[in-house]
Amino acid sequence: MKVIKGRKIYLREICEKDLEKVRQWINSKTVSHALNIKKKITFKRQLNWYERYLKDDRKNVFAIVRNDSHEHIGNISLFDITEKSAYLTIFIGESDSLRKGFGSEALALLINHCRRLHIATLFLTVNSDNKEAIQFYVKSGFALNDEVQRNSKEIFKMKINIV
Ligand SMILES: CC(C)(COP(=O)(O)OP(=O)(O)OC[C@H]1O[C@@H](n2cnc3c(N)ncnc32)[C@H](O)[C@@H]1OP(=O)(O)O)[C@@H](O)C(=O)NCCC(=O)NCCS
Repeated sequence: MKVIKGRKIYLREICEKDLEKVRQWINSKTVSHALNIKKKITFKRQLNWYERYLKDDRKNVFAIVRNDSHEHIGNISLFDITEKSAYLTIFIGESDSLRKGFGSEALALLINHCRRLHIATLFLTVNSDNKEAIQFYVKSGFALNDEVQRNSKEIFKMKINIV
């Protein structure tokens, strides 16, 4: 299993036993709103997604795990991976693990991982009203690249060049 070690957290590939916890996070108000997920995810839908994920080379989903407690606190994912670029998403699902620097470290570890893969550019999209996440991304080196409307919502596209 792919493991990327950091100081306060490590990243490991998600596995089937993580699915129920992840499903509950994705169904929570904060995460579903941030990721623009409209429908509740059922267990069956989550399992179907996981089976497709296992066959998809262009996606990599990592569990963010605390070194001190080995608790899985959120996910960071790469998708639409090509030789040159990839998109990412991140959420910390455990509220008592927010604002402790775990998200920043997960992002820094993922950026380094992409650098090793010679991926030159990382993109992400974020709702323009998600000020906390925008500040988080700017602090990690991302810059605004474009603004688009999606389902009458204003979305910012951000990017970082890493090689
Ligand atoms: C965005 C998110 C991943 C940040 O993770 P985190 O581990 O809490 O963030 P960190 O502790 O590493 O914070 C790093 C910086 O981001 C900014 N930041 C993070 N959370 C913030 C908040 N609630 N309010 C204001 N700034 C915030 C701050 O600049 C912070 O630095 P500081 O603590 O020195 O002030 C987390 O808030 C989250 O999961 N949010 C819900 C899902 C989401 O919005 N994901 C992004 C979807 S595009």
